[in-house]
Amino acid sequence: MTAILPHGGTLVNRLSEGAEREELLRKAADLPRIAVSSWAVSDLDLIGVGAFSPLTGFLNEEDYRSVVNEMRLADGTVWSIPITLSVTEEERESLSIGGHAALVGQSDGIIYGLIEVQSIYSVDQQEEARKVFKTDDPEHPGVKKLSERSPLYVGGPVTVLNRPSPERFQEFYFDPSETRRIFAEKGWRTVVGFQTRNPVHRAHEYIQKSAMEIVDALFLNPLVGETKSDDVPADIRMNSYLVLLENYYPQNRAFLGVFPAAMRYAGPREAIFHALVRKNYGCTHFIVGRDHAGVGDYYGTYEAQEIFSNFTPEEIGITTLFFEHSFFCLKCGSMATSKTCPHGKEHHLTLSGTKVRALLRDGQCPPPEFTRPQVAEVLINGMSKQAVQ
Ligand code: ADX
Repeated sequence: MTAILPHGGTLVNRLSEGAEREELLRKAADLPRIAVSSWAVSDLDLIGVGAFSPLTGFLNEEDYRSVVNEMRLADGTVWSIPITLSVTEEERESLSIGGHAALVGQSDGIIYGLIEVQSIYSVDQQEEARKVFKTDDPEHPGVKKLSERSPLYVGGPVTVLNRPSPERFQEFYFDPSETRRIFAEKGWRTVVGFQTRNPVHRAHEYIQKSAMEIVDALFLNPLVGETKSDDVPADIRMNSYLVLLENYYPQNRAFLGVFPAAMRYAGPREAIFHALVRKNYGCTHFIVGRDHAGVGDYYGTYEAQEIFSNFTPEEIGITTLFFEHSFFCLKCGSMATSKTCPHGKEHHLTLSGTKVRALLRDGQCPPPEFTRPQVAEVLINGMSKQAVQ
């Protein structure tokens, strides 16, 4: 059985182990230091395990400019989100091209890895924002995050020396090499990846299960890295996924593993990034529904699907499955989309994410046609505990 090739053809591995790691850690103690946020640590780790293949490090200037302007690396490979490392002016003083620097956790002082400094460059973050997020509105959560970072970037290959240790749900962390092995062991030839930063509501379940009808299995791959503060926290979501999988999904056709990346909220460009990364995890198919990775009204409902038409299917390499906005139709008595339901909007049950979160926070279950009651219960309990803390 031949597994799907990683993006760029080879699964990158930048993890150092054993004696080599010990030696590098000793050397790192004398190197210039770059303080890295938990976001940068997560990017570093995802590069290290090959989730961001073909990237072997933080983007160099040429790749950065090409990604921002063309959605491609300088060699033409499709890549839509700049994965970059910011440094302060002070840190820059001690860096030299061709030298190495230690990447040290801002909050814990742990040496997470090394970078070989190949380029140091200044960027126009407003331009980056306009091109990547299609807006420079400081209210946009991705733009806001970007503006909080120094506009001085360092590029070059990295080596991971320490892995971030998750506080909870360790058993759901799998590297791409592991998911690839697991999918093969289970005999799954086709696997559909599902990105989510939300609890799985009936609409999500509907599109997942529609996809499951034509592939061997589902890889439920919730993003659990940094999200904006009003999104449902990852540990509450994890409990809701577990109860849903246990009650409503065939155990031998669904697999839960987390995606420990930060959410960028870059809509269309993030959809491409999400698809390529899931290919690296071994998925053959990837779901893009309505307003994928969107926030507010910054992106059109189907823009995250339309953006794929800029590339050939071969360049993307993973099969995208596009779904229309889905809802429960009271007249059909089932989930549907405008492709399958002839009834007017007045018969459709749709609730905004904000409305659902408000209901849950008040301890009220959304209608069962919107959220499975077991899922709602987990969310309500989780949120009330959170409110007490
Ligand atoms: S995302 O930011 O991770 O994309 P979310 O967790 O809400 O947000 O969505 C996960 C996936 O489900 C995305 O592909 C999104 O487009 C899709 N999706 C969410 N809600 C719907 C819906 N009602 N109809 C169709 N697709 C949806």
